[in-house]
Amino acid sequence: MSVESLKTLFRPELEELSAYRVPAAPPAVKLDANESPWSLPGEAWELILSTVRRTALHRYPDGRATRLREALAASIGGAPDEYVLGSGSDEVISLLATAMSKPRSGEERPVVLFPEPTFVMYGMTSRAHGWRTVGVPLDDRWDLDVDAMTKALERERPSVAYYASPNNPTSNCFSRDKLEKLIMGFPDTLHVIDEAYGGFSGQSLSRWCAQYPQCALLGTLSKVGFAAIRVGWVRLDEALARELEKVRQPFNLNTLSQEIATLALTDLAPTLQAHVTTIVAERQRLAEELARYPSLHCFPSDANFLLVRYNGDVTKLCEDLLSREIAVRRFSHGDARLAGCIRITVGTPEDDKRLVTALDEILCP
Ligand SMILES: Cc1ncc(COP(=O)(O)O)c(C=O)c1O
Repeated sequence: MSVESLKTLFRPELEELSAYRVPAAPPAVKLDANESPWSLPGEAWELILSTVRRTALHRYPDGRATRLREALAASIGGAPDEYVLGSGSDEVISLLATAMSKPRSGEERPVVLFPEPTFVMYGMTSRAHGWRTVGVPLDDRWDLDVDAMTKALERERPSVAYYASPNNPTSNCFSRDKLEKLIMGFPDTLHVIDEAYGGFSGQSLSRWCAQYPQCALLGTLSKVGFAAIRVGWVRLDEALARELEKVRQPFNLNTLSQEIATLALTDLAPTLQAHVTTIVAERQRLAEELARYPSLHCFPSDANFLLVRYNGDVTKLCEDLLSREIAVRRFSHGDARLAGCIRITVGTPEDDKRLVTALDEILCP
């Protein structure tokens, strides 16, 4: 069999998709991926290293991640069995797409719905699993358009709806009353609220999980200092969690990640919280700095990044920043409203100073 004929056996949806690419060698100031800019202090490293030294690397991991689940339940709420864990929340999105892929009766494909613009992986992962995706434009304040969402939920009857709040890349939280109205109005859809950036907004909707069985909460350690260990989760009704568990690979979370994540939620939680508090204060400071440039408009942010519209050639601006070793995120395709925008992760005060110095050189020569 030739490669050409083997290629015909791949899912047809893959033809229109491209692999998610990440630059191999990041520049000195990395403000493009919404990671925490802070590495860990020495004592935190000591704790991690002493845990790593005790780890039985010759054994398979605890397939249930017992201690980590317990730490999640203690820190966020609910029972340990309400959590399904993944290698980042990216994997959890994939588990949902695998497990819930039965189309509704009368439909050819399962349907996923999300307001747009939003995190690209909801669409990419669902499409790669054969789902039909429905995007509903956010209103001009980047909030939910309840009428349009209601119509789309009625018409499309999605199995799953995703709401990132705070949303990536628009950086705002959606109005709670609007979100709750949609969740209450459509109990036959699994409404997944993605709180990847929840720590920076000072609010969590986790109590809705207990109130509405159709509500699930997605979470991750990636934005608060542990992007490298790849730990994410979904909290949902126990009966639904049991079904999702059936498609999870038994050892998807390696032992080191489980141990470090458990520390992140327990002994290291005050350190992470201090970093979050610093980032929130720095976000305000950076937004004020950016407001000095007449050609930049910064949208209000509840996250660890800022969405900024540039009244000029955005490609050139990103190139000029990169030539000064500063990476920010730009949007070359997708929602037309993002065409002139860049997304800037809040860095350390030193990172942000370098950014502002570079903007002075580029925008005010
Ligand atoms: C809204 C949102 N959800 C989830 C993720 C992915 O998180 P993880 O690193 O846990 O896969 C991201 C990453 O950028 C994100 O922006």
